[in-house]
Parts: sequence; C-alpha cells; structure tokens
Amino acid sequence: MTSAAVSPQIATPQIATPQVMAANFLNLLIVDDERAIREACREVALSLGYIAHVADSAEHAYRLLQTHTIDAVLLDLRLPGANGLEALRQIKAQRPEAMVIVVTGYGTVQSAVQAMKNGAYEYVTKPFSIDELKLLLERVSNHLKLKTENRVLREKLKGRQGYGGLVGRAPEMEKLYRIIAKAANSTHPVLILGESGTGKEMVARAIHYSGPFRDKPFIPVDCGSLVPTLIESELFGYVRGAFTGANQAKDGLLAIAEGGTIFLDEVGELPVDLQSKLLRAIQEKEIRPVGSTRRVPINVRILAATNRDLEQSVTEGTFRRDLYFRLNVLSLRIPPLRERRDDISLLIAHFMERANRASGQEKVLSDEALKALLAYDWPGNVRELENCIERTCAFTSGPVIYVPDLPPAIARTVMLAPERSNGNAQNRIVPMAELEKQTILRAIAELNGDKLQAARLLGIGKTTLYRKLKDYAAQA
Ligand SMILES: Nc1ncnc2c1ncn2[C@@H]1O[C@H](COP(=O)(O)OP(=O)(O)OP(=O)(O)O)[C@@H](O)[C@H]1O
Ligand SMILES: [Mg+2]
Repeated sequence: MTSAAVSPQIATPQIATPQVMAANFLNLLIVDDERAIREACREVALSLGYIAHVADSAEHAYRLLQTHTIDAVLLDLRLPGANGLEALRQIKAQRPEAMVIVVTGYGTVQSAVQAMKNGAYEYVTKPFSIDELKLLLERVSNHLKLKTENRVLREKLKGRQGYGGLVGRAPEMEKLYRIIAKAANSTHPVLILGESGTGKEMVARAIHYSGPFRDKPFIPVDCGSLVPTLIESELFGYVRGAFTGANQAKDGLLAIAEGGTIFLDEVGELPVDLQSKLLRAIQEKEIRPVGSTRRVPINVRILAATNRDLEQSVTEGTFRRDLYFRLNVLSLRIPPLRERRDDISLLIAHFMERANRASGQEKVLSDEALKALLAYDWPGNVRELENCIERTCAFTSGPVIYVPDLPPAIARTVMLAPERSNGNAQNRIVPMAELEKQTILRAIAELNGDKLQAARLLGIGKTTLYRKLKDYAAQA
C-alpha cells in the first residue's frame, strides 16, 4: 500500500473491554506490507473497541487465520510477491465466513469488481480517511452482530420443528401435532379448517405421510378452481364417448388415489349436485365414471379443507348437511398466524434459511426489519410470510435487509408505530377485514386489473381472491 490518508498518529487507543466486545465486536486482521498503514488501521480498530491482528504478507495472514478467531480481514490487494485475488481466494477457502474488505489502488476498480465477485464483502479505494475506515468497520461489525443474532434465531429453530415439516411451537400447534398423529393412524375423514395460507395442505400431507399408507398416492384436488363439469369427470373419471372430446376412457382421481388419500381442497366450493355424488361415493365406497353404467369400488381416505364457515354454508343451504357430517368426523383448526405470534420468528428463521440455502448467499435481517416483520398482522398467514421472505431475499441486492426492502404494507408497521401510540387509537383502528379488502382492491387497481398477478403478489390463492371479490360484490 502506498499513499493512504490514514495517519499513523492516532490518539490513545482504547483497550477493548469484554463489555464493549459483547455489544459491538470484531476480530479484525489487517494485511498490509507497509508498517505505518498497518499500525494506523490497527489503532482505528482498537479505538472502536475491536481486536486487531496484523500481518505483513499473505503467508503471515494465512498463519494467523489458522490460529486466531478472525471475523473480518482488511486486505491490501497489492502485496509484494503475491497475487491479491489469489490471497482473497485462499483466505475465503480457509475461512469462508470471514468478511473481507479489499483495499485497491486508485483507478483499479476492475480488480475491486473482480474481488467482489470472488466473495469480498466490500472494497475501499486508496487513499481513504480515518472516518471512511471507521464507518466501514462499524458496518462490518454491525453485519456480524446481525449474523450472530440471525444464527441464534436459527439455533432456536433447530429442534423447534413440529410435525411433518410444520414449523411452530405455539401451544395450539402442539395440540395440532397430537391430533395429526392420531388422525394419521385412522382412516376416518378429517376436515381441516383454517384461513387462507395457514397450512391446510401441509397438514393434509402430514396426515397422509405419517400414516401407514404413506407409500400410496396423495392426490390433492382443488374443488374451487375447476368448472363443475370438469370436477365431476376429474373425480369420477369417464368412459370413452361420455362427452365430446372423450376419445378414450380416463380414470378419476378417486380411483387413482386407490389405497391412499384424496385431499379435497376448498371443499366448500363444490357445487351442490356434486356434493350428492361425492356423498354417495363415500358412503357406498364406489363410484360411477361419467357415461358409465358400471360401478367401480374405491378404497381411499378422504381429507378435506376449507377456509369457509361450512356450518354457516349448511345453514344457508349451499352445503349439504349430510356431507358435512360425513367429512367432519374429525376436524382440525389451524390457528391464523396472528393468534400464535411467537411462531412468527421461527417461521422467519425457517424461510430465511431456505432462501439463503437456495441462493448460496447469506442475507440477514436488520433489527428494524425483523421488528417490522414481527409487528405485522399477516392476513395472508404463513403463505404471505413465505412469499415476503422469498421475494425480499431475491430482490435485495446487499447482504442486509432493511425496512425499505420489505413490502410497503409491512414496512409501514414500524414507520407508523410512533404515530399510533398517541391520540385516540379507537378512531384509527380499522377492522382487519376492511384492511384486507382495501389491500386486495388496491393491488388489483395498481396492477390494472390483473387478478392473477395480484393474487400472486398478495400471497393468496387465486380461488381465495375470486371468492373474496364475490363476497365484496355481494356486500355492495
Ligand atoms: N407451519 C408451517 N411451517 C412451514 N411452512 C408452512 C407452515 N404452514 C404453511 N407453510 C407454507 O406456507 C404455504 C401455504 O401453505 P398451504 O398451501 O398448506 O396453506 P393453505 O392453508 O392450503 O393455503 P390456501 O388456503 O391459500 O390454499 C406453503 O408453501 C407451505 O409450505
Ligand atoms: Mg390450500
């Protein structure tokens, strides 16, 4: 390193006390061949309460890395007798988690870009000032602190997984796991209740895959998204010539699921005439394919899910009472996320880990971003949280996720927090259902009426969106 504005004369270095280290720590390795620069950087690090080690060559640095705890490395890319990028590669190979700041000469941005591609955390161009170095080291230290906190969250997550990959340790979820375990070993129908995105399909899979017939098929059918005529032929199958286009016979899903489970998702959307046919199939354990006169025996376990209030549908006459009783031999209710807020942090850690594993990067949440995620009400439940983390990780370019990187509705939870706490809160509190309605309608308007895209971005199923729109129209 030749000319840096860092001066070797820095006022009395502060000795790092354990207290300082706990709050704001960093084990820094400074690699530079010029003694004055090494010492100057070391004093800056010490003045911030960090621990600093110095090396005058790449070889010396490798030796120190073997014997010392090093979180970050300040590496001059131009070391005599060494290729800076090769040194970076070696350091990362030895200590993949170390955050390397490369120091490049003026006008050699090219090598800085290459270094960033090779895993450097940041670069700084000579000459740099003490303030610049301080800011950079504080940023590294802050990132390290967040990484540690995120790791703590992850550790908390280990052993916190519930049944069949379901994450959550709230007492209601523990109760749910016990019921799933029991349900898995019976062959009775189970009705799974829960708002959109709470994990109904996941619970259905958990029941099937932890039961004795786990190696038989698990067939989900979305009763809400198929047109009525199609549902019938999908469920029961058809014979050749049953209708125009039926050029050959096709087995129905109830027959395909033989020996296993059929999962009737959004069963509340099933048209009434099909409800009767389904009831008959369940009672008589046989089906009649469309266009056939022959009955075919079936042996399947029925699981059904709905986010509707089926009892109310029964009262209103849109759902058959006898079918409701048939399906509701055992029922499970998955609580919405806002009723088990302690699980939010576990789910965040779970989805962050998954996104990081998929991208090979290690993104972390800033304290404020985590606060915003924890404060939000999650009307779209786990699905919304999952989409939020995946999208945010994918679209945030830096390693740290800050509040503005989050979807606006979530970022607002921390931005609005101080305002909410004063004044007459009662006048400002808007019912959840109204907030949800406004969010949905605004999303559709902003996307010029593209409902599919709106459903995707809101993190809800398209059937759910269409049903809600139908409900809003009925209310108007
Ligand atoms: N407890 C959980 N742990 C981990 N992931 C979960 C959990 N609950 C739900 N998920 C995930 O959230 C997403 C939504 O879950 P699922 O499809 O089972 O919900 P749903 O209730 O069927 O939703 P919808 O009503 O929108 O169909 C899935 O990607 C699922 O993997
Ligand atoms: Mg579902």
